[in-house]
Amino acid sequence: MTQTDPPIRPDAPILVFDSGVGGLTVLDALRRILPQAPVIYAADNAGLPYGEKSEAEIAARVAGLLGRMTERFQPRLACIACNTASTIALGMVRDVLNIPIVGTVPAIKPAAAMTRTGVIGLIGTGATIRQGYVDRLEAEFAADKTLLRLAAPGLVAAAEAKLRGEAVDPAIVAQTLSSMRAMEGGERIDTLVLACTHFPLLADELSGAFGPQVSLIDGADGIARRIASLTQGQPFGRTRPDTALFTRAEAGLSALKPALAARGLDRVEVL
Ligand code: DGL
Repeated sequence: MTQTDPPIRPDAPILVFDSGVGGLTVLDALRRILPQAPVIYAADNAGLPYGEKSEAEIAARVAGLLGRMTERFQPRLACIACNTASTIALGMVRDVLNIPIVGTVPAIKPAAAMTRTGVIGLIGTGATIRQGYVDRLEAEFAADKTLLRLAAPGLVAAAEAKLRGEAVDPAIVAQTLSSMRAMEGGERIDTLVLACTHFPLLADELSGAFGPQVSLIDGADGIARRIASLTQGQPFGRTRPDTALFTRAEAGLSALKPALAARGLDRVEVL
């Protein structure tokens, strides 16, 4: 933004983007500190799960969709509330869009400050855990720690199901625990980074499985604080209900409505 940019309209939304319902965990944190901000929550359900896609495919989808949505909704800021999309496409999206973009990156830095045993577990999508972005965070903030990375794609589907009101299969959570513990040093994990925005939706199930000696950590509060700081002093005023926007109409959307409404997303639209 420069001094010649027009003033921010009070009803200009904050666009929160994810492949599915995971970004709602970021929205929850944002609501706590900026309840007055108009929001469009966008879920690329036609592309879900990102974690099983190639880097090129994710980058193309995310840049294309955010470009279209920015043109149509004129947000004041966009938040990529998805670790997979952020670790792959954040730089590219920042290069092409002329609004502030806030990304989501694995909370390795705070985890390194918290661990007492020096062994940190990190669960994310397959695409996230192989990113150079994660290697760089590890080298910068956790070089003297052990970081054990595990892809946990089953948890994405479980979190989606939970928000549709379905039961979470305990075997999926148990499998995550046993795979993590089976890694070399896994028994000593005392801090678990939830490096996928879907996973805090399963915080109760994960802490039940990992036990009270393991602290779970995610980046949602930090992201919300960053958004609040970037929009500080701006006017906020809704002129229409906050909206959840999906990229594909599908049967499961109506089952999601209570979870969306509980987060103030009173309108559901398909792009
Ligand atoms: N919520 C996304 C993340 O934070 C991933 C879910 C997916 O695989 O699409 O990485």
